[in-house]
Amino acid sequence: MTDVLDGVRDHYRATGLTERLKAVLTGFGPEDQRLRPQQLGALDQFHTRGLAATAQLAKLVGITADMSVLDVGSGVGGPARYLAATYGCRVTGVDLSEPFVDAARYLTERTGQSGQVSFQSASALELPFDDGRFDAVLLLHVAMNIADRTRLYREIRRVLKAGGRFATFDVVLINGEPHYPVPWARTPATSFLLTAAATRKAIESTGFRTLAWQDDTEAAKAWAAQIGESGPPPSPNLGVVMGPDFAQFSANLGRNLMQGRLGTLTAVFDAA
Ligand SMILES: C[S@@+](CC[C@H](N)C(=O)[O-])C[C@H]1O[C@@H](n2cnc3c(N)ncnc32)[C@H](O)[C@@H]1O
Repeated sequence: MTDVLDGVRDHYRATGLTERLKAVLTGFGPEDQRLRPQQLGALDQFHTRGLAATAQLAKLVGITADMSVLDVGSGVGGPARYLAATYGCRVTGVDLSEPFVDAARYLTERTGQSGQVSFQSASALELPFDDGRFDAVLLLHVAMNIADRTRLYREIRRVLKAGGRFATFDVVLINGEPHYPVPWARTPATSFLLTAAATRKAIESTGFRTLAWQDDTEAAKAWAAQIGESGPPPSPNLGVVMGPDFAQFSANLGRNLMQGRLGTLTAVFDAA
């Protein structure tokens, strides 16, 4: 398992990321000028359909200001900052990639949200929190990197309060082998896709009850087609985070969606 985690860490190693972000963000104003979380949307929402998908998921979960929310695999922190800014809740993010955690903290200082949103490096398979600590847990485009789904969903169930909500937004397998590299993996060695039905079975078998279940593959295809036509949003975008290969990762994701190999799934559960 360590080999797999090292492989995933390597994919998201993002050497010198915070320094690169500092450099590109000079275009938004001086270092001491506060940024609005929405200004970062093209580079800090590392999933299909970007900010729109985060907003949709948060609404479906029913986030409120009094909640303590955990974002598992928080990337560079876009979803966490969005939730805190929109709903006033406290958010904790954990991620395997130390450069991502470092970058997430830097961007959160730039948006002035460090009192409300925090990040730490940890594995989703060993969450550094007591049982029953959170009201809601979010998982956006992370499960594809995790082989041991039972352990993942059990850990999430453990840190949730009884009756707490778990929301997942994932890429799922539909038919055939995906083209690689994709945004989450250069090769199948660190990609562990499941079908939507197998995902549901794995989640329900760890003590969750399904509240909402949406196949949003058509919306993902429309998003991919639009990016295919217009190209990536003007810089700074996720290419800053993942480097020059990101254009190819992104094009392959679009190809996989259009050819019916991959789809996307949004689902919300409560901890029974
Ligand atoms: C495609 S990115 C999504 C980031 C973020 N959820 C978002 O939507 O903006 C996948 C993230 O999952 C993290 N990740 C993958 N496997 C992980 C694990 N076992 N534990 C914690 N984080 C993990 C990666 O480091 C990466 O930041």
